[in-house]
Amino acid sequence: MTDAAKYNVVFVLGGPGAGKGTQCDKIVKEFGFVHLSAGDLLRAARNDPNSEFREDIANHIKDGSIVPVAITCSLLKREMEKAKENNQDYFLIDGFPRNEDNLDGWNTQMSSQVNLKTVLFFDCPEEVCVDRCLERGKTSGRTDDNTESLKKRIQTYTECTMRVLHYYSTLGLVSKVSAERSPKEVFEDVKGIIMKVME
Ligand code: ADP
Ligand code: C5P
Ligand code: MG
Repeated sequence: MTDAAKYNVVFVLGGPGAGKGTQCDKIVKEFGFVHLSAGDLLRAARNDPNSEFREDIANHIKDGSIVPVAITCSLLKREMEKAKENNQDYFLIDGFPRNEDNLDGWNTQMSSQVNLKTVLFFDCPEEVCVDRCLERGKTSGRTDDNTESLKKRIQTYTECTMRVLHYYSTLGLVSKVSAERSPKEVFEDVKGIIMKVME
């Protein structure tokens, strides 16, 4: 496959509540990427009466553990194919890959069709992440924005996702942004990174 025919992908990682979704919305507005949140796709599949994986996904989400990659990757792939039919080929893949299983599955199924541009990493202290999620939990209706689920989500992040970040940093692919500032300030740094990606 030629480089031009491939999907251009930016992975977006960071702890729960680091601001991935917030910043992705801003990138979409300013740069016109397709935003695919793995968490959003999984929540939609969990709520879909026709999905055979509803219960399994619901349990993983509540436990802050990671759904098997075959499920998540097929949801992402379906959306990427749909978008490509509309000539959209720049993607923000938010909240993926989150563990070694995600990474292996992606590398097997997708990486030959993808130009991985960078891994945008929102670096945010744990207590700020937890506070933001608890605040979001007042209105989000999410089953995992509570103290008990958050403990497990933070653990998954530090034990599994950090290793994925380490892997990509050894490849020189991580663009780290300090996410503790206001959304507007964070976006100033993000803009610079995305502009380089699109050069
Ligand atoms: P993630 O997708 O990483 O879980 P979100 O973008 O959903 O994070 O943000 C989590 C919560 O924190 C939301 O309620 C959001 O409005 C808020 N938030 C996002 N970015 C910031 C920021 N830079 N400063 C303060 N609050 C933020
Ligand atoms: O990214 P978000 O916070 O929306 O993810 C919510 C939950 O969805 C995660 O805690 C996890 O249970 C599930 N998820 C997953 N695999 C991913 C992304 C999210 O299992 N790659
Ligand atoms: Mg999110």
